[in-house]
Amino acid sequence: MKMTKSETQVIGIVGSPRRNGNTEIIVDSIMEGAREAGALSHKILLSDLKIAPCRACNVCTKKGSCVQQDDMDGLLDQMFDSDVWILGTPVYWWGPTAQFKAFLDRWYSVNDRSQFRGRNVILVIPSGGAGEYSYGPVRDMLERVIKYLGMNHVKTILAPGIGGKGAVGSHPEILDSARRTGRDIANQHP
Ligand SMILES: Cc1cc2nc3c(=O)[nH]c(=O)nc-3n(C[C@H](O)[C@H](O)[C@H](O)COP(=O)(O)O)c2cc1C
Repeated sequence: MKMTKSETQVIGIVGSPRRNGNTEIIVDSIMEGAREAGALSHKILLSDLKIAPCRACNVCTKKGSCVQQDDMDGLLDQMFDSDVWILGTPVYWWGPTAQFKAFLDRWYSVNDRSQFRGRNVILVIPSGGAGEYSYGPVRDMLERVIKYLGMNHVKTILAPGIGGKGAVGSHPEILDSARRTGRDIANQHP
């Protein structure tokens, strides 16, 4: 979907395969806040897309795009048309979900890394475990990627100790903070 350039464009990417789960609920709250401040937003559910894992063939380093014909090129276009990226994945075995990791690995095919620079990124990471021990590795990994690519890390929203489907719905403090984060970034963005 091509959008007009006057409003702040927010893309919310949900890496959980669980529909209406904690990741999606938090991503929705951020987008709601952004819309309250006049932004446009749209949501992508990675589990609805076909995104094959990177094959490390390195053809992209010459061709400038991936040889695999799936939904990733279209998604990258939508991302680069957006000012704010919300990237959400729950913790699965101290890592992101398989869907999210395949998506992330395919960023490798973008030769012009300057396209990442300065992008506003909000991370969303729910975890069944309540402590740093559970969510730390995913947070570290994603924050390192953001730093490496020179992106603007707006905030990481954690939802520790929240395992059941939709359980974050009874944590207004997390959802309020998510909505505020969306509102603030949309207000700050020209
Ligand atoms: C396959 C699988 C692996 C998981 N591994 C972990 C884990 O290592 N640490 C943890 O804290 N939670 C783990 N969880 C719990 C999820 O992170 C938690 O339920 C989260 O809220 C799910 O978010 P969602 O509702 O958006 O899918 C795991 C869940 C699944 C299904």
